[in-house]
Amino acid sequence: MVRPFSQIQKAVQLLNKNEIVAFPTETVYGLGARIDSEQALKKIFSTKERPFFDPLIVHVSSEEQAKSCAAEWSELVHYLAVSFWPGPLTLVVPKAKSISDLITSGLETVGVRWPKHYLAQELIRSVGVPLAAPSANKFGRTSPTSADHVRDEFKDSIYIMEDDAGEVGIESTVLYVGRDLNNYSLCVLRKGAILKSDIEKALSRVNFSYIWEDKVDPKHSPGHMKHHYMPSVPLVICKDTKMKLSVLSTTLNEKLMNIPDEIESVKIIKPVGEIRKIEFLKLPDTPEQAARELYSQLRSVSQRKPDAICFIQMPYHSGNEMWESVLDRLYKAATLILD
Ligand code: TXA
Ligand code: MG
Repeated sequence: MVRPFSQIQKAVQLLNKNEIVAFPTETVYGLGARIDSEQALKKIFSTKERPFFDPLIVHVSSEEQAKSCAAEWSELVHYLAVSFWPGPLTLVVPKAKSISDLITSGLETVGVRWPKHYLAQELIRSVGVPLAAPSANKFGRTSPTSADHVRDEFKDSIYIMEDDAGEVGIESTVLYVGRDLNNYSLCVLRKGAILKSDIEKALSRVNFSYIWEDKVDPKHSPGHMKHHYMPSVPLVICKDTKMKLSVLSTTLNEKLMNIPDEIESVKIIKPVGEIRKIEFLKLPDTPEQAARELYSQLRSVSQRKPDAICFIQMPYHSGNEMWESVLDRLYKAATLILD
């Protein structure tokens, strides 16, 4: 592996020349651009084939830097930053004027996060400017947790920093923080490893007046399509734990053919022909380990080129917040859900 120092030097040079660079974080790999380079920001969208309505997360290496991206940094936001950063929590706050509309998709808010991975931190610190970075995959497809996954997506067209896969494995929790005087409203826009109960626990130690908005307002949350993270082979979730393989094959052959080609701008992965070979996606029993392995398992099962991948949803997956975060990704990655 190239030494971390030389990797950072090379990545900084490229970023300063309006290029984009793939870097590891503790969640998934990011595809980064300096937030002040319109040219590089546009490259993110063209490389990922990502529509402009989906906003980017700004990655920082200190709370001060995050503040410089925001029009307002409330006490509650400060408290959450101190409690969970560096780490897998993105805070959606009112944006500073200087933040490009390309980053926020024209919204009045910006998502900011201080990642925990040392290479990501060193890179941002060395550039001296925050980096806007989506996950380093083609739009709608499975997120990458290793340099090899990023190479599978973009071949050698971009520079990729090499390191171990993310210790978390799924994308950060995205938390919207609204404020009306000293009353706050919080809404989890995307579930992740920082759980709602973790946020409640942290806030129980202090005295803020806040409510949870459980219904996600689509106005606050573009980029939350029904389908996302799709592997190259159709994934099916089966909730019937006793379904026989022969029944499963017949059902899939009936149902998978009638699915639309595209939903909300995301190309839906459909079978090429009759379903003969089905592979099962097996995840570890603990949700933290399952999150860590989810995307690499999805990729390696797909590489065996079955006609469909099936995940059996077990009763123990229900009623646990971290499993909910993992299931959120699986449901979006799925072409079909069989109840
Ligand atoms: O863990 C992560 O968050 C990874 C790593 C690279 O940091 N990044 C990531 O970025 O998952 P991306 O682009 O794949 O997902 C960003 C999502 C958007 O699709 C959108 O749903 C939400 O974050 N988001 C970003 N800015 C927002 C904003 N201002 N308001 C609402 N949602 C926002
Ligand atoms: Mg993504």
